[in-house]
Amino acid sequence: MSIIDKVKQQFELTFGVQPEFLVRAPGRINLIGEHTDYNKGCVFPAAIDKCMYFGFKPNGSNTCNIVAHDMAASENYNLTSKNDSEKLWARYCFGVLREFENLDIKIMGFDCLFMSEIPIGAGVSSSAALECGFARGIDKITSTDLDKWELVRIGNRAENNHLNIQSGILDQFSSMFGQEGKAMLMDCATQTFEYHNVDLDPYELVLINTNVKHSHLSSGYNDRPSECKEIVRITQTKFPEVEHLSTLSHDQLELIKDTFSDTYYDRASFIIEENKRVDDFRLALASRDFNTLGKLLYASHNGLKNKYEVSCDELDLLVNLSMDQPSIKGARMMGGGFGGCTLNLIHKEGKVDVIRKMMYDYYKTTNIKAEAYYVKIGNGVEVITT
Ligand code: GLA
Repeated sequence: MSIIDKVKQQFELTFGVQPEFLVRAPGRINLIGEHTDYNKGCVFPAAIDKCMYFGFKPNGSNTCNIVAHDMAASENYNLTSKNDSEKLWARYCFGVLREFENLDIKIMGFDCLFMSEIPIGAGVSSSAALECGFARGIDKITSTDLDKWELVRIGNRAENNHLNIQSGILDQFSSMFGQEGKAMLMDCATQTFEYHNVDLDPYELVLINTNVKHSHLSSGYNDRPSECKEIVRITQTKFPEVEHLSTLSHDQLELIKDTFSDTYYDRASFIIEENKRVDDFRLALASRDFNTLGKLLYASHNGLKNKYEVSCDELDLLVNLSMDQPSIKGARMMGGGFGGCTLNLIHKEGKVDVIRKMMYDYYKTTNIKAEAYYVKIGNGVEVITT
């Protein structure tokens, strides 16, 4: 049975009626350009073919009933009392609801049930899929017809304002705008982007999940946006025109080097280098220069590990193990860090055995079972009428 049929079946078993419509919302990968989004730099993500599926139907009441089927959990949002929830997944949904309410959009009660193929806490943005899919459903239920960018911002504000995660728009943007076979190079300062074909054959992108769970709430994620703001504040005493870290040049950084701690210097230098790597990656992708793509992935990991300090031992181990594999051109940690997946550029021939060997070696050292995801680049959020 397809996951769509399962959602329909479980929706009917739970609410006694068929859903009126379904929404599909994908997770994402990011080819390169990590932690650059909230620094108003460049990112290069794509939506993946692992998705979250939601069933929706108005229920004529004053309550939004939401069922997280995979977790065998449910939560209700009362539109009058505007209650809170202790459950993390529900706080994402309630955050989205509140952001609609903040736009003075009148919400009527509805029933919603969702299921997911996206691994949670793996750095492939199950949370953005939840926010964006849920937001698209409310948009349809309320016949508001917001454009994709507004839905992206609602999802991001839900996270910033209601979960206290100071993330940028990388994840929601990727889930909403994804297109099959294409990655999106976005300048986060202007929020303009272009689609690029991702034709890597005979190479493929494979994710390996460390299975070290991260949560941006408990990890050091929020420290980085605060540090970057502070670096910009210090920079502006000398260069008032620098509004964001991504507009700081290497020469300017060298000139003010002495006003920074080594840590701040490293953070700033990583962002400058990572933005440059995004552009280099674009060129290497267009010319199918797999050696350069691989080198850029390793260089990005190196910076994330040593300068930006958002990696962890398990991610570093997987990246090191990849270096022993001649069929792997490059690898790096992906997403916010502190756990989650590595992204590997691997030759398709014999890939399963190569990955299996790496996971075995990883297990021997860590006692943790890693998982591999053979992802494809898919389409963004869409409504499916039943
Ligand atoms: C997480 C955040 C994004 C972005 C990445 C790092 O996924 O949600 O906004 O900062 O980390 O690139």
